[in-house]
Amino acid sequence: MTIASNRAYAAPVPDVRGLRIPERTLELIRELVVAHLGIYYDDGRLDILRDRIVPLAIERGFDSLLDYYYLLKYDAAAGTEWPRVMDALSVQETYFWRETDHFTALARAIVPGLIGRLKRRIRIWSIPCASGEEPLSIAIALNEAGLFDAADIEIHASDASEAALAKARGRRYGRRAFRQLPDALREKYFTRVPDREEWMVGADLYSRIDSWTRINIVNPDEIAALASSDVIFCRNLFIYFTPAGVRTVACELARHMPSPGYLCVGAAESLLKAGAGFDLLEVGGAYVYVKQ
Ligand SMILES: C[S@@+](CC[C@H](N)C(=O)[O-])C[C@H]1O[C@@H](n2cnc3c(N)ncnc32)[C@H](O)[C@@H]1O
Repeated sequence: MTIASNRAYAAPVPDVRGLRIPERTLELIRELVVAHLGIYYDDGRLDILRDRIVPLAIERGFDSLLDYYYLLKYDAAAGTEWPRVMDALSVQETYFWRETDHFTALARAIVPGLIGRLKRRIRIWSIPCASGEEPLSIAIALNEAGLFDAADIEIHASDASEAALAKARGRRYGRRAFRQLPDALREKYFTRVPDREEWMVGADLYSRIDSWTRINIVNPDEIAALASSDVIFCRNLFIYFTPAGVRTVACELARHMPSPGYLCVGAAESLLKAGAGFDLLEVGGAYVYVKQ
């Protein structure tokens, strides 16, 4: 997943489903993608990028991938095309209660600490939220701890993929989304959809999420407003970024976050080399990056 892969990529297939792929075109698209979305495809994963981009170029009626590259780079239509690229590249693997330690720490230590210290509304931001399981898990954890009665708390949810947000707004989840959530919590906050292996989020829980917005985390203008949140969950996104991309985003978040500000990243991710001014601390039994 990192830029460090040294597996040589086989010469690009010249013709996929009738679409010509001139030499180096995939590499050019890779550069555009990492600049626009932060997601990096190393040589060993260029075929994944190809398989996701080729259908978009074909839908556009091109017979060469190079024309699609020019569209993304120079054309006035690029602004409407990038959201389609994001949807095509979006990996929305997520589930309720994923990496539970963070939710426990949030409810037992982080938010109670903030309540004691701040005499104002507390803001929590989940980016990327994918189809919504993460922000809804945050709301469940806070509700179970009675914290919505104790403080004024906002929860915001964002993702760069409109398709992911559409799923979140649909409010329905299949069995796999619940693989980690205790059954008692599923019964309490969700209602089974008749004759289906699906559950609908209860209106009370859903209404705890103050906003669902499309935000590209690598765009400083788009993140400016919500990056001032007291707690940010940014989990399982940096694994797709280059170290330089992680550093840029982490520094930008740090620039806006208050002190203390709490940043939760995925278990497989690290900001230790990012030099963004966060300390990795154990808070309430979980490892959290804290802007002091
Ligand atoms: C694996 S999910 C992570 C969901 C959740 N945070 C979790 O840990 O379960 C990754 C999400 O990142 C989103 N994403 C990818 N690039 C993004 C970007 N530049 N800005 C915001 N979201 C992005 C994708 O659309 C996808 O929904």
